[in-house]
Amino acid sequence: MRSKIVAGNWKMNNDLAASKALVGELVSEVSGLSLDNTRVIVAPTFVNLESSVAAAEGSAIEVVAQNMHQADSGAYTGEISGSMLTSLGLKSVILGHSERRAYFGEDDALLASKVDAALKNNLEVIFCFGEELEDRKSENHFNIVGGQLKNGIFHLDAAAWKNVVLAYEPVWAIGTGETASADQAQEMHAFIRNLVSETYGAEVADEVSILYGGSVKPENATEIFSKPDVDGGLIGGAALNASDFMGIVTAI
Ligand code: PGA
Repeated sequence: MRSKIVAGNWKMNNDLAASKALVGELVSEVSGLSLDNTRVIVAPTFVNLESSVAAAEGSAIEVVAQNMHQADSGAYTGEISGSMLTSLGLKSVILGHSERRAYFGEDDALLASKVDAALKNNLEVIFCFGEELEDRKSENHFNIVGGQLKNGIFHLDAAAWKNVVLAYEPVWAIGTGETASADQAQEMHAFIRNLVSETYGAEVADEVSILYGGSVKPENATEIFSKPDVDGGLIGGAALNASDFMGIVTAI
């Protein structure tokens, strides 16, 4: 059975003290929950990964990275490799977030190479994609999403998909307060699962968790998560506050 997942993407927020404090709060909050088949993930910034792993030790909170470089090592000033992440005990990395695509020029081809590098390092990939507002207005959103999947991750073989989580994040809903309706999310998630099924077969499609991201809050999470093809959320703003994030975890 595919996992349910609530993942907090902290982006470039929370210094060392704030990261430790937030992980500590979440650790104590989740300790009282029965997290049946549900994963709770946080993605702090690189410099706070090690301290967050330490703060989460022995708890159900998983710490993941927001990005990585495609090379294993070398002259890439300022970059972080997959093996560096695994050396901290990390098991997963987010790739392809729309902010990486928009502000750091990460295109499908680069992301495909990052996906390969992550899997080679035994890191699970949380692969993000989603259309922009113009694409939806021009009813091109299914094409855009299909293209991002085909060019960024559909080169993998079926066996690799046990280490893939998909995160559909319409760009127009990220950090804008505007959420896709639960029906819009379900429509796209069903389309995505169908594409995975056409490419890899029903078994792979049935097992892959597909998260929705874009202004998920405690108030709208229950409705979005009630949809059959929505397996959880990738949360930005609301993940920075323990009680909001836990409201979303409780919703799932
Ligand atoms: P948001 O961000 O929840 O603040 O809209 C979501 C994301 O970027 O993953």
